[in-house]
Order: sequence, then structure tokens, then C-alpha cells
Amino acid sequence: MTVVAGQVAGAAYIVAALLFILSLAGLSKHETSRRGVTFGIVGMAIALIATVWVTAAGAWDSEAGGAAVTGLVMLVVAVVVGGAIGLWRARVVEMTGMPELIALLHSFVGLAAVLVGWNGALYDTGLEGALADIHHAEVFIGVFIGGVTFTGSIVAFLKLSARISSKPLMLPGKNALNIGALVAFLVLTVWYVITPELWLLVAVTLLALALGWHLVASIGGGDMPVVVSMLNSYSGWAAAAAGFLLNNDLLIVTGALVGSSGAYLSYIMCKAMNRSFLSVIAGGFGIEAPTSSDQEYGEHREIDAESAADMLAGAQTVVITPGYGMAVAQAQHGVADLVQKLRERGVDVRFGIHPVAGRLPGHMNVLLAEAKVPYDIVLEMDEINDDLSAADVVLVIGANDTVNPAAAEDPGSPIAGMPVLRVWEAQNVIVFKRSMASGYAGVQNPLFYRDNTQMLFGDAKEKVEEILFQLSRVSELR
Ligand code: TAP
Repeated sequence: MTVVAGQVAGAAYIVAALLFILSLAGLSKHETSRRGVTFGIVGMAIALIATVWVTAAGAWDSEAGGAAVTGLVMLVVAVVVGGAIGLWRARVVEMTGMPELIALLHSFVGLAAVLVGWNGALYDTGLEGALADIHHAEVFIGVFIGGVTFTGSIVAFLKLSARISSKPLMLPGKNALNIGALVAFLVLTVWYVITPELWLLVAVTLLALALGWHLVASIGGGDMPVVVSMLNSYSGWAAAAAGFLLNNDLLIVTGALVGSSGAYLSYIMCKAMNRSFLSVIAGGFGIEAPTSSDQEYGEHREIDAESAADMLAGAQTVVITPGYGMAVAQAQHGVADLVQKLRERGVDVRFGIHPVAGRLPGHMNVLLAEAKVPYDIVLEMDEINDDLSAADVVLVIGANDTVNPAAAEDPGSPIAGMPVLRVWEAQNVIVFKRSMASGYAGVQNPLFYRDNTQMLFGDAKEKVEEILFQLSRVSELR
């Protein structure tokens, strides 16, 4: 019975792995993303059912004894409790809170890998010779990757949810610390394979926890998107390491898929943000402390909704660059109405979307699609940047870092070199935000003090609605 169950589960795992690959392929395009999600859900359901079934078959097997029954009970309890918490969190989480939730979930994968590693070390496998050496190396590597992922993800969670400052931690000799930790890990691994003593496992666990904390704490707010996808990748490798220890093919395949796709996403994001991939995954290796001080930029100018409506009514080309504030204010529906109203008046309106606007990849695109803004007027940063100088008005709605000229003009800025939307080249810029506060990267924005910029203070949704009201007034007057 148990043998047959194991074989069926093995076959189910292959089907699940194929569905996960199809899911990733589907998720790579807008049009097929829903199908991709469905493949993922079906694959995960098959994997879970197969796992429960194989455990249940073991429990029913008279030779297996009480341990298998205990295993089944623990599995069912874990699935019910974990499933209930997961369902509840996924239902209540705001879209702006997704990255921190994802970071927290990554920390669980890391913790699981540490626990599986420890279990593998304490459990007598009866292996000898080269097989025992391989097992010890697997334990050690699994605990290390898991530990780094665990604390790294917790720091990412704390930074993303603004519970700690998003500024990079600049310990003296931070690069030497990171390299030293890696060298220590290599030495300890060899030592553990030769003499698998428990204190070595304790040492590598503490080392990994400290390194994970330091790696992510050293990375500034502006580079956090890359960190989140990098931790996604680490969590995949941690799961794959656990898969080797548990002899579970599905976990190995799934972990490798998550690990490699996360690494590739990090690479794409680094390219988009003009960051060195290696430097970011090495905890900001080689990045010097920013030299820019809190410079004085002079006075800013303000505008009210009525004057903004008049300016828009007289414009021919308008570009809207949304950011995180549009998501916080949930202003996308008002923005969609504004676009429709302006287009009815013959104004050419387009959107410019920065690759890291908001708090997760594609954040703005999802919000605009939800508000039914036509896809063809939503352009990527590279597609719109050269046209910004010809725009009569640019509306910066709750964006800050992604339109910061310091990235292009101040080599000492923490976001120096990151490509930004060159909104300051337009005739007029109206910035919607509630105060002069800095954006996610904690960097001042000289855009707000430019001669062609005016600040429209207040909640983005309320201000957009006020402009809509004023625009109807302008129409009535004509
Ligand atoms: P941010 O630089 O974060 O600026 C958003 C601005 O919105 C803030 O300055 C804030 O100013 C304003 N705001 C907040 N609530 C508002 C409301 N209700 N009404 C009006 N304005 C409001 O946004 P961004 O330009 O989209 O840049 C994204 C940043 O997040 C980048 O630094 C990026 O690296 C980072 N990040 C991105 C991701 C991904 S993958 N997209 C993930 C993690 C981090 P006030 O407080 O004055 O209103």
C-alpha cells in the first residue's frame, strides 16, 4: 500500500512540477496571467493532496507504527492552521502591503529550511562514507541559506512596513564583514563534513542569521525592490536545500524554479535601475556612503485644484506619472475619469510608468487596468521619456523617487544613476502629494523647487475629484 502510494505521489509531483512551469510561463504575459495563476493553484492542490495521501497511506500501514499516525495528525493540523491564516491574510491585505507580506512569507521558508536542516542533523540517517558526507554538507548549506533568508526577510519586512528606517546601515568595513562571513561559512562547512559536531551547526546558524540581517540592513530603500526579489530567490534555494534533505523531488524542482526565476527577476530589476546585480546581492558591496547632505533648494510654489483644472483645460498634451501615493489614496478611478474627460476635450493624455513605481513590480499597471484605463496609452518609462519635453503638463500623482532629478544630476545622491522619468523637462509639472516629505528612498526631491513645478497638496484622490469638479465648471462656462 505504502509503496503504491509513494509511486502515485511521485507521479503527482511530476504533474505538479509541470503545472508550476506552465504557471510561470503564463505569468510572464498580461494576456495569459490568469491562466498562469490557475495552473499554479491546480499544481499546488495536486502537490498537497499527494503529500497528504502518501502520509495517510503510511499511517494506515500497520508496520509503520505510531510515528506515521502522529505525522499525519501534525500534517493535517499544520495545513488547516496555516491555510486558515494564509487565507485570512491574503483576503485582508491591501495591495500596497503585498511586498511586506511576501517578505514575511519568505522568512517562513527560510525558517522552515533551518528547522529541516537541524532535524536532518539530529535524526540518525544511518548513512556512512561519502553519502554521510553529502548529507552533512546538505544540512549545513540548508541551514545557512535558510538562516540568511530568515533574518534577511524579517529586515526587509521591517523596512517595507516602515517599522525601521529604510536608510542603509553603514557599519565600518561592511564589505569585509560580508566576505569574512562567507569565508567562515566555507571553512565551517568543510569542518562539519569532516567532524559533524553540534557546536559547528550552532555556529553556522548564528553566522547565517547575522549575515542575513546585515546583508539586507546594508541596502538602501531605493534598492529594496531588488532585495525583495533576491530574497524570493534565496527562499527558493532554501526550499530546494530542504528538498534534498527530505528526499522530496517536488520541493527540489519547485525550489529551483523559485530560486532561478527570482534571481532572473532581480537581474532584470537591477538593469532597469542601473544597479550592479552582484553589488546588490552582496548587500550593497562596493557602494559608498552617499555624500549628498540635506541641501537647501529654496522655495516651492503651490497651486490649487481650480488653477490646475484651468491649466489642464488649456493643454494639448498631458502625461500622468503615477506612484505609490496614487495606490495609497486609491485615486486610480478618479484618475481614469480625469483621463476620459480630458480625452473628450481632445487633449492627448498618456501615462508614463516607472519600472519600480509603487511597491511591487507592475503595481501601477494593475491599478490602472482595474480602473479600465486603455492599455495603449499606458507607456513604459523608456517609451515616454523622450516625449516628456513636448508635454504641456505632467501630473505627478503620488510619485516621488521615480521622478527625482537628483538621480540623473547628483552623483552623490543615494539614488544616483537610477533611471527616472524626466518630468522636469515638461512645460509645467503639477505634483500631487500631502506634504514636502521625501519618498521611499528617504531622499529630498529638487523637482519640487523647480520653476516649472507647482505642488498640489492633499490626498491625491480628493484633489483629482476636485479637479474633475472644476473641469465640469470650465465646460459649463464655455
Ligand atoms: P515614493 O518615492 O515612495 O513616493 C510616494 C509619494 O506619495 C510620497 O512622497 C508621499 O508624499 C506621496 N503620498 C503618499 N500617500 C499619498 C496620498 N494619499 N495622496 C497623495 N500623495 C501621497 O513613490 P514612487 O515614486 O512610486 O517610488 C517608489 C519607491 O518605492 C522607489 O524608491 C522604489 O525603489 C521603492 N520600492 C519599489 C518597489 C517596487 S517593485 N515597485 C518595491 C519596494 C520599494 P506625502 O507623504 O507628502 O503625501
